[in-house]
Amino acid sequence: MSQELWKEVDAYIAGALVPEDPQLLAALAANAAAGMPAHDVSALQGKLLHLLARIQNARLILEIGTLGGYSTIWLARALPSDGRLTTLEIDPSRASVAKSNLVRAGLASQVDIRVGPALETLHALKSDGAGPFDLIFIDADKPSNPRYLEYAIELSRPGTIIIGDNVVRAGAVADPHSADPNVPGVRTFLELLGRHPRLSATALQTVGVKGHDGFALALVLPAQ
Ligand code: SAH
Ligand code: DHB
Ligand code: MG
Repeated sequence: MSQELWKEVDAYIAGALVPEDPQLLAALAANAAAGMPAHDVSALQGKLLHLLARIQNARLILEIGTLGGYSTIWLARALPSDGRLTTLEIDPSRASVAKSNLVRAGLASQVDIRVGPALETLHALKSDGAGPFDLIFIDADKPSNPRYLEYAIELSRPGTIIIGDNVVRAGAVADPHSADPNVPGVRTFLELLGRHPRLSATALQTVGVKGHDGFALALVLPAQ
């Protein structure tokens, strides 16, 4: 019942605020055709990411977890012409679907898809002196979230915003004994956000076409 209602409301809001877009729809169709799970953000969540990137005047964006590049398209469309987005994906076949979705959306020249385990790529980015990124979106394997957060802080500057997806998981996050194997990573992630001296953070529950879940949002503060 509630899921039906959440879907209806999402459809109404999407109709009013987020007009249908052939390139995003083509990306979702290509992802489904490739057999990917529908773990992309919703259109309304994608638009939120896009608006946050614009509010932030983001010129350098880092995304951890590409899938077929649906959220990547929303974020990359917020970039100025000299802006760049780096997105990390472990699965080469997903990365290649994402690449063709980004080419179709006219964004391939601004997006660098790095294939491999994100912890290795993050280590390489750090060694190469990449960043600081203006906005970092963490949306890959949830057990690694605490380590992704450490790298995110290292690749940030005061004023960077860090966004984490899927921090509620249908409410499972509130249960320290949850059977969902992703929950401990998400709980540690939230607890680190709460106690890190360089972060000020919140998290919001969301409902909609993707069910009951949530986003965490953190601002990187100056070192004391
Ligand atoms: N941000 C995307 C959805 C990402 S789904 C969107 O909203 O459109 C999570 C992705 O993280 C999956 O494609 C998965 O293959 C990838 N992933 C999982 N473990 C990873 C790892 N260790 N390193 C990099 N990517 C990983
Ligand atoms: C899952 C991962 C996601 O990034 C998402 O948005 C939804 C679900 C998952 O692993 O179940
Ligand atoms: Mg997600």
